[in-house]
Amino acid sequence: WCAENCPLSSATIKGTFVHATYHTAVEILEDRLLGVDTEGKIAFIGSGKEVDRLYYPKAHFVVIDVCSEFFMPGMVDTHIHASQYSYAGTALDMPLLQWLNMYTFPVEACYKDLEFARNVYTHVVKRTLRNGTTTACYFATIHTDASLLLGQIANDLGQRALVGKVCMDTNNFIPHYKETPDESELETNRFIGELLKKKYPLVRPVVTPRFAPSCSATLLGHLGEIAQNNDLHIQSHISETKEEVSLVKELFPDYDSYTDVYHRHNLLTDKTVMAHGCHLTDGELKLFRETGASIAHCPNSNISLCSGMLDVRRVLNHKVKLGLGTDVAGGYSPSMLDAVRRTLDTSKALTIQDTQYHTLTFEEVFRLATLGGSQALSLDENTGNFEVGKDFDALRVNTDAAGGPIDLINHGEGPKVESNLLASSGDDRNIVEVYVAGKRVVPFVERP
Ligand code: GUN
Ligand code: FE
Repeated sequence: WCAENCPLSSATIKGTFVHATYHTAVEILEDRLLGVDTEGKIAFIGSGKEVDRLYYPKAHFVVIDVCSEFFMPGMVDTHIHASQYSYAGTALDMPLLQWLNMYTFPVEACYKDLEFARNVYTHVVKRTLRNGTTTACYFATIHTDASLLLGQIANDLGQRALVGKVCMDTNNFIPHYKETPDESELETNRFIGELLKKKYPLVRPVVTPRFAPSCSATLLGHLGEIAQNNDLHIQSHISETKEEVSLVKELFPDYDSYTDVYHRHNLLTDKTVMAHGCHLTDGELKLFRETGASIAHCPNSNISLCSGMLDVRRVLNHKVKLGLGTDVAGGYSPSMLDAVRRTLDTSKALTIQDTQYHTLTFEEVFRLATLGGSQALSLDENTGNFEVGKDFDALRVNTDAAGGPIDLINHGEGPKVESNLLASSGDDRNIVEVYVAGKRVVPFVERP
């Protein structure tokens, strides 16, 4: 096995692979051989018999034959505030709009200080990688240089990332934490230009209006235009709480709905991901479907801030793309395994309220955490599962890892049970290795 962060070029891995496909929520591939090419892409996946034909003569040959071990695709966090990591797990005693004013804006204002930013951003990228997040869609803050630094840190540590410099020109509570519409437009263009100039292979900019209550129509218009002209991703928040929905109605009285506010500023595209969406109407979900925009389901945050319980089944029935998000620090956990658990919990809470409810299965949620997230971020051409031609973004899981939290005497029930076990009781101790685009990024190699 690679001794350090070397590319997994021409490697062949023999073992069990658990992944989601477009047709099957969880597909188990036992006793397979998976080849990774020099660019970190999956070159082949086949059974033992095919190996003679396919396998590279000079390959590393890795055999995983412990019954508690398997590979799964890396998880995709479709919504996380890197800048809020510094207070994750605290300050969850207020509803959203007060919480933003009391805790979030004062903390985010600190990212003017690049050393403060470097410290927190290094910690959050390392922590999420260690917990199996191979792709993260980040909110930073309004500060361009600190946001660029987040992009650099993700690149240096090997995480695939969409990074957003936050845009907001309305803030009545902390007047120094906002921009003018012109500044925001100018700095967004600078952010995009400078980030693209770095040519980081796995890091992309994402146009990031914070949410409608923090943005004037003028600013939303600028941002829609920037995204359109540069064919960029877009992220924001929508219909997280009922109070917020009422506020948007007040602030934007001439629009049909909250969704219409974004739509009429060209901010709903097939590269848009909107966080929460707990209180969207059927008509709004139809607009999501028509535009190809997706939803980031953030169950920890939705419960922690008492925002609402998103009915994921309803969203899926509308054929709207949906991924999972941790929404640190509205959500207190940066782990996508937590997002999986909370998604199942919320679905079960909805089932308690209505016994006829069609509860999400573990398999469906496994798909949402991996392939679903890649689809929600329009990255599934290259990531999300173990299809030939995609980048090898993968977790080597061992449910029986020494010192880990799972204390089963008898493993050997098969990979379906082992993957379920990871989702219900596992943590980062069970994620023994993490690969992004064929490169091992966890365990970290400390450089002198
Ligand atoms: N809506 C606008 N900004 C935020 C934020 O930082 N966190 C959450 N959860 N919702 C938001
Ligand atoms: Fe958020």
